[in-house]
Amino acid sequence: MSEPRSTPSSNSAPSSRSTSSLRSTQWYGGDDRNGYIHRAWMRRGVPDSAFRGRPQIAIANTASQLTPCNMHLGEVLSAVRDGVLEAGGVPLELPVVSLGETNVRPTAMLWRNMAAMATEEMLRANPIDGTVLLGGCDKTIPSLLMAAASVDLPSQVVPGGPMLTGHFRGVALGCGTDVWRLSEEVRGGTLSQEDFVRSESAMIRSKGHCNTMGTASTMALVTEALGMIIPGTAGTPAPDSRLLVAAHEAGRLAVEMIMTDRRPSTFLTKGSFRNAIVALAAIGGSSNAVVHLLALAGRLGVDLTIDDFDRIGHDVPLLVNLQPAGRHLMDDLHRAGGLLAVLNEVRDLLDPDALTVDGRPLVDHLDGATIWEPDVISSYATPLQERAGIAVLRGNLAPDGALVKPSAASPHLLRHRGRAVVFESIEDFHARIDDPDLEIDADSVMVLRGCGPKGYPGMPEVSNMPLPRKLLEQGVRDMVRVCDGRMSGTAYGTVVLHVSPESAVGGPLAKVRTGDWIVLDIEGRRIDVDLAEEELAARQPSEAAAQAYAQPARGWERLYVDHVQQAHTGADLDFLVGSSGSAVGRESH
Ligand code: FES
Repeated sequence: MSEPRSTPSSNSAPSSRSTSSLRSTQWYGGDDRNGYIHRAWMRRGVPDSAFRGRPQIAIANTASQLTPCNMHLGEVLSAVRDGVLEAGGVPLELPVVSLGETNVRPTAMLWRNMAAMATEEMLRANPIDGTVLLGGCDKTIPSLLMAAASVDLPSQVVPGGPMLTGHFRGVALGCGTDVWRLSEEVRGGTLSQEDFVRSESAMIRSKGHCNTMGTASTMALVTEALGMIIPGTAGTPAPDSRLLVAAHEAGRLAVEMIMTDRRPSTFLTKGSFRNAIVALAAIGGSSNAVVHLLALAGRLGVDLTIDDFDRIGHDVPLLVNLQPAGRHLMDDLHRAGGLLAVLNEVRDLLDPDALTVDGRPLVDHLDGATIWEPDVISSYATPLQERAGIAVLRGNLAPDGALVKPSAASPHLLRHRGRAVVFESIEDFHARIDDPDLEIDADSVMVLRGCGPKGYPGMPEVSNMPLPRKLLEQGVRDMVRVCDGRMSGTAYGTVVLHVSPESAVGGPLAKVRTGDWIVLDIEGRRIDVDLAEEELAARQPSEAAAQAYAQPARGWERLYVDHVQQAHTGADLDFLVGSSGSAVGRESH
């Protein structure tokens, strides 16, 4: 792994900006009554010097005992704090909404925008000049990034890092991916229920987030490629002492970013997103990154569309041999050279001008980045797969687009024609999937609707529907599946997901009937139901699907379904798109 770059060694704030222009002086500057109030209540062991022109840095912390992947962020915070103090700033912990992927119901995605909104407003409301954002579990980094973009204060992410690899009976276990695999083996009769439960205690070996190339790992690596993490840092395992060194450096860098006014809007460009998309394809990252990057671009006003993922990612080869697309786990990737070694292989595809949090181009950090274990990171010349970028499909089933992850799909299903077996909701699916009388075979196409942003609501990770038990017992391990929801980044299979518009708003998916022919052509970028245009237009949406569409009466869910946008634009709320900046609110004393 390349070493994180070093920030300046003196402990005085680097200055191209005067300390009197700091945002926080609007709270702490002056000796009038308001200055008195703002300072006095903060003086609880805080020296007077803290209020006299030192950058105030919020360390937004998503640590929570209900977010087990982020439980260790307190120690990361301590290292950031040391770095901030060393560079002359004042560190201030800001606990923010945390989303534990395995705990939060109905789906953490329902709360991503709420977490982003709450964090944005607390950053804006408080006397701070910049932020360090501590995240890890799937939605935490995306929500922090969206918040930082909309408040546009100098910001950077410190990722909490993946856990170490656990083993069960001599075999490495990948978090998430092996849960799907082992549960399918139980249902297929090749693994006992007792052994399945025994493997449970071996899976989570240490602190940190999931160790597959799931959404958490993907978002950490993609955020580094975007420029929002000190290069060479993302992917450092949570227990690795180098993570704390990187956190310390981030604290020092936070002060420099404030004094040079390095805000997200000053360096995150379309080129930054290009680099993120190239990284996403090369690592075989989670399809969830698409909705998160689109939402982030919307906050920044960067003109990014779903088609950019296909256009930019199309020629990028898969280089990283990690589950779910491959074999290894995040610990192995870090040891093999990490993201910088991967990006060095696709250097020619990167935007050479896109900057990172340290003010230097991302590509400048790639010199000397080396692949140490070719079995984990392949070279550009000998990739694991050509053209591994996420494919964007269109057709009469998805006029606004749908995604498929070729690196997770089965080669024999990349072109497929099969009869639809339609499920009106995830509950309908669970009720019928193992019915011995269900008319379904290996060539059928499983269609699940009612799982989009508004329909569920929250666009859950259910698109990778488990296969019918009777087909598993026959040895079938993949089938074409089509859904308006998402799928876990740890999942695999030939799954067409994020179908837009979703069925709940009258998308064509709502009109498909069991027995219709579904035609998938990933190379041709098509997903269609084989019906004449007039016949499809004349069909009414499924009544059962309409009934399954949730209509929350109040609270966040009400706000969410009234304002959430479709997947192809990032599923942000319409009134949260864009930025309000960091203007200081009115004084109320
Ligand atoms: Fe937190 Fe997987 S459950 S990263």
